[in-house]
Amino acid sequence: MKGKRIILGVSGGIAAYKTPQLVRLLKKAGADVRIALTASGSRFVSELALATVSGESVCREMFPPADQPGTDFTRHISLGEWADALVIAPATANTLARLAVGMCDDMLSACFITLRPHKPVLIFPAMDGQMYRSPAVQRNIATLAAQGCTIIEPETGDLASGQCGTGRMPEPEIIAGRIGAALQKSATGSPLSGRTVVVTAGPTREKIDGVRFISNYSSGKMGFALAEAARERGAEVTLITGPVNLETPGGVERLDVENACEMYEAAKPFYSTCAVFIAAAAVADYRPETPHEGKLKKNSPEMQLKLVRNPDILADFGARKRPGQLAVGFALETGEGIAYARCKLQEKNLDLVAFNTFDRKTSGFEVDTNALTLIDRNHMETVLPLMPKKEAARRLLDHVELLMGDPAANMTTEK
Ligand code: PMT
Repeated sequence: MKGKRIILGVSGGIAAYKTPQLVRLLKKAGADVRIALTASGSRFVSELALATVSGESVCREMFPPADQPGTDFTRHISLGEWADALVIAPATANTLARLAVGMCDDMLSACFITLRPHKPVLIFPAMDGQMYRSPAVQRNIATLAAQGCTIIEPETGDLASGQCGTGRMPEPEIIAGRIGAALQKSATGSPLSGRTVVVTAGPTREKIDGVRFISNYSSGKMGFALAEAARERGAEVTLITGPVNLETPGGVERLDVENACEMYEAAKPFYSTCAVFIAAAAVADYRPETPHEGKLKKNSPEMQLKLVRNPDILADFGARKRPGQLAVGFALETGEGIAYARCKLQEKNLDLVAFNTFDRKTSGFEVDTNALTLIDRNHMETVLPLMPKKEAARRLLDHVELLMGDPAANMTTEK
């Protein structure tokens, strides 16, 4: 953190009392810290305490008195431009709402707006557990996550209300660690930068006749989120997608296909060149053996369809991948099924598998959120909470980056 310039945004929650200690830790690690304190924040922590530990005057007012010589009158812009990162801890429900809608009426919100793109913004929500779970707060969190902010889930424990729940701000040591990791990542750049990433997305349609097909509920959202997140990290991304109704993420090459065989043919040319192959598509395992030309007529009370197996695209890539290439798959179940996910990891020679369930409400097909459990080739299991698919995609790529730096990557089977 040496020499890094950090703005600490402090809003009005009880956890603000921990912020002088956080400032001390950041300063000790060599960071240059400025504080943007909201009006309510100043009711929980004194401006004097923060100024003393940071060695800087605390920024509160957007418009400083006009008669003070040497004052930076446009600091609502220059402070955001100065910073390498913005950390908001604690972020109250009110602050999350104001940032989510783009308000810009105090130093904290102005810093958020003027911080140049691609600089890390870490947000540590902290509030009463019931408030945290409320749809409004969750919606604002999802909006901020979709803008690229890193939202750190609050801890579970005793709350100021006397109740026990999820809403506690992590201890300053934990927050300082997260800031250090985020800064390191933005300084060194992502290992995905400049690498080729192929993502499959959406459903496939397997033709029965001229007007009917077999398919599933996949919307493509998970795969598109992955393509977008990989692009954000500087990867060259090719997105091979079945029929979906989604905009192509900027800077991503998109190949549209209809059925599993077409998806297979579209993917094969990338097998040897891609660094990472991510299969988020819900590919039909079977297709009608001989699709009927034109529309089938309903002449008899019964009809039999003979289905044949489709190529397994991911398994094929897994079998051929070369040292250093990574194969990432998904496993979808309608209930418990983590054991199946582990089997897929082995059978398809994957480096990482993301297990998700389809509950029709919060995770799996169609919805904007997902709860992934990541299992990697080292048997490390990471259970992610329910979050927007865009954030889940980023968390999955964080894990891919870890595996890219893992020497065991060079031990994958070469065929
Ligand atoms: O598109 P959304 O609405 O956002 O929904 C996201 C999702 C639920 C589709 C996604 O998160 C997901 O779980 N995708 C994989 C669903 C699936 O078909 O799982 P599976 O268990 O049948 O297949 C296992 C893996 O092999 C998958 O990575 C799949 O892409 C791949 N596969 C499967 C069959 C096949 N013929 N070729 C493949 O590449």
